[in-house]
Amino acid sequence: MSAAAKGTGPLLRARRVALVAVVCMGASATACAKSDAPPAASRATTAATSSGSAEHAKESAVTFREAAWKPKREADIPNDSMGASIKRGLYLLRFTPESLPAYATSNLRCTSCHQDDGLRPTSAPLTGSQARFPKYMTRSGTVIALADRVNYCFTRSLAGNAIPVGSREMVDLLAYFAFISKDIPVGTKIAGADGLVAMPDTLDGDVARGEALYTAKLCVTCHGPQGAGNGPIPPLWGPKSYSVGASMARHERAASFIQHNMPQTAPGSLSAQEAFDLSAFINSHARPDSPGKQNDWPMGGAPADVPYDTKGHKAFLPPPVLPRANPSGAIVPNPSRISHTAR
Ligand code: HEC
Ligand code: HEC
Repeated sequence: MSAAAKGTGPLLRARRVALVAVVCMGASATACAKSDAPPAASRATTAATSSGSAEHAKESAVTFREAAWKPKREADIPNDSMGASIKRGLYLLRFTPESLPAYATSNLRCTSCHQDDGLRPTSAPLTGSQARFPKYMTRSGTVIALADRVNYCFTRSLAGNAIPVGSREMVDLLAYFAFISKDIPVGTKIAGADGLVAMPDTLDGDVARGEALYTAKLCVTCHGPQGAGNGPIPPLWGPKSYSVGASMARHERAASFIQHNMPQTAPGSLSAQEAFDLSAFINSHARPDSPGKQNDWPMGGAPADVPYDTKGHKAFLPPPVLPRANPSGAIVPNPSRISHTAR
């Protein structure tokens, strides 16, 4: 087992995070100044938006009006011990590989996908995540906690290693999620609560058309001809990109991300067909493997575009996969499954 897997890394890395934080705090001064004032909690309607049942509404003491709610931003972070943890969580999200090189081994950071510090509704927002977990995930076939969900992104989306659940870093990330989930009642589903926006139609992407669009739509100017990215611009394929077990490796998920958020300078300018073509092109290239992926969807029911075999599912256009340096670090053990009987 490597030092990373044993969990000796985070303490050593803490100083680095602090350093990055200082640099960045200077750089983001304008952003801070521009930030909105802390939102006034809205207390107008009932919280039972997810159930809709009258009985549930009556039981709920908390009220929440989404339209009037605004997530807190960096400038709202309190200047106390809690604030220090929240701020550290935010900087871990922004500077993941710099802060945790033993764990975030790719060239992606959390904010490569969870844009605007995890607040953007179309890029799998992390606002309200605190109110959505623990939850049952069909991919895992069991109920998982928010910390495990964080490690799914470390191991799959970042193609890195799981961070220890009790580590300072995990607590800091969770502190930040709680901060940007403030006032959202448990069980409430806000916009983006189901991850990337579902594409209304599943279209067939064409790799050759995608390749032409990659240049025509200027993806190449930022992400590079080999899709390798450059500094803060993340790679789209190759050894430093997301793994085959990431949601983004599914054509429909990547098409959604691309159509709503890319090109970075003109989000929303691509048609759905163009987004599917680009997704097919990007996801046709080699990327890191995801050890244990055959155990996903243990009850069956994998979405049609999952690019690897699972129970009852044949891989959809599987890309070539690259071996992982530390395969055991890439596995997040499931909590044991519990059976239930209908009541
Ligand atoms: C390659 C893109 C990508 C990167 C990088 C990434 N994520 Fe994610 N993450 C996603 C997607 C996509 C989802 C939602 C799943 C979906 O839409 O299928 C998600 C979901 C989540 C969720 C669950 C949110 C909810 O409420 O359901 C958490 C928490 C999370 N990510 C944390 C992180 C953290 C922490 C990092 C950095 C260590 C990270 N992610 C990096 C793509 C990414
Ligand atoms: C102006 C530079 C720029 C252009 C042009 C651009 N991107 Fe990006 N892209 C980024 C940045 C920067 C991020 C990371 C998000 C962030 O930091 O806000 C990103 C993130 C992504 C991601 C998710 C993270 C990852 O690496 O997997 C995908 C997928 C993506 N871009 C695809 C595209 C596609 C397809 C195009 C062309 C239609 C495109 N981008 C054009 C800068 C750009």
